Amino acid sequence: MNQVIDVLLKRKSIRAYEQREISPEIKAQILQATLRAPTAGNMMLYSIVDVIDQSLKDKLAKTCDNQPFIAKAPLLWLFLADYQRWQDYFIACGVEQICAAKGQPMRKPSEGDLFLACCDALIAAQNAVVAAEAFGLGSCYIGDIMEQYETHKELFKLPKYVFPICLLCFGYPTEQQQNRQQSDRFDEKFIVFENQYHQLDKQEFDEMFSQRHKQVFNGRDNIEGSVNVGQAMYRRKFSAEFSTEMTRSVRIMLKEWTGD
Ligand SMILES: Cc1cc2nc3c(=O)[nH]c(=O)nc-3n(C[C@H](O)[C@H](O)[C@H](O)COP(=O)(O)O)c2cc1C
Repeated sequence: MNQVIDVLLKRKSIRAYEQREISPEIKAQILQATLRAPTAGNMMLYSIVDVIDQSLKDKLAKTCDNQPFIAKAPLLWLFLADYQRWQDYFIACGVEQICAAKGQPMRKPSEGDLFLACCDALIAAQNAVVAAEAFGLGSCYIGDIMEQYETHKELFKLPKYVFPICLLCFGYPTEQQQNRQQSDRFDEKFIVFENQYHQLDKQEFDEMFSQRHKQVFNGRDNIEGSVNVGQAMYRRKFSAEFSTEMTRSVRIMLKEWTGD
C-alpha cells in the first residue's frame, strides 16, 4: 500500500508515551513538514509554542481539564491562531496612515479572520500529526486548551489577536498503546453526501449508532441512567463542566477579539 495512506489509516490517538527523547533531527523534520501546510493567502496565520518547561507542562495538565498525560508528553506543541503578527505588520507598514488619508478607519481582525487563522493553525497541526506518525511517534490533540482563556493568555503572554486553538502531545507510544485497538468511525454514508446536505432521521440514527451502542453499553441496559449513546454523550461531553467552561472561555476571547 502507498506509505502515506498506510500512515493515515493506521493512526490513532496516543495518550501514554515512552520516556524516550525525540531526537532534534526528527523534531526538525516534523517542524519542516508542519510549516509546509497549506495556509490561507500564504499568510501563515498561526504560531507554534514549543512547550519545553516542565512547570508549564504541569500547569497545562491541570488547566486542560485535568489530563495528567499532557505533563508526561516528551514533546508538546501549542498551536495558536494568530492574526497579531499581520495586524502588527500592517501597522508597521503604515496601513493606518494610508487608511486615514483616504478617510477610512483601518479594519481590525474580525470573526472571519479568526476562523481563517484557526483553519491555518489546525491544518498545520494535522501536518505535524501525520509527520510524527511517519516517524513512529504517536500524538494526541487537546481541545481543552480552548478553556481557561485568561489563564493561558497570561501563561503564554498572548496578545489580543492570538488564540490557543489546539495543543498537541507527541511521544513514542507505550506497548499498551501500540496494541490498543483503533477507535471506530461512522459509516461513510452518514458522513459523505452528494451535492447537498442530508439531515438524518431516527431510523438512520439507529443504524448509524447500532455498532457504537454495542461497544459503549457492552450488554448493560444503562450507564448512569443513560440508555443510549446520545444520552450518554450529552451527559459525558456536551453538557459536561468542561464544555460549559469552553463556551465561557471562547466567549471572553471573542469579546476581546472583536471588541464588542
Ligand atoms: C479537536 C480535537 C480535540 C481533542 N481533544 C482531546 C482531549 O482533550 N483529550 C484527549 O484525550 N483526546 C482528545 N482528542 C482526541 C480524540 O478523542 C480522538 O481523536 C477520538 O477519540 C478518535 O480517536 P482516534 O484519534 O484514536 O482515532 C481530540 C481530538 C480532536 C480532533
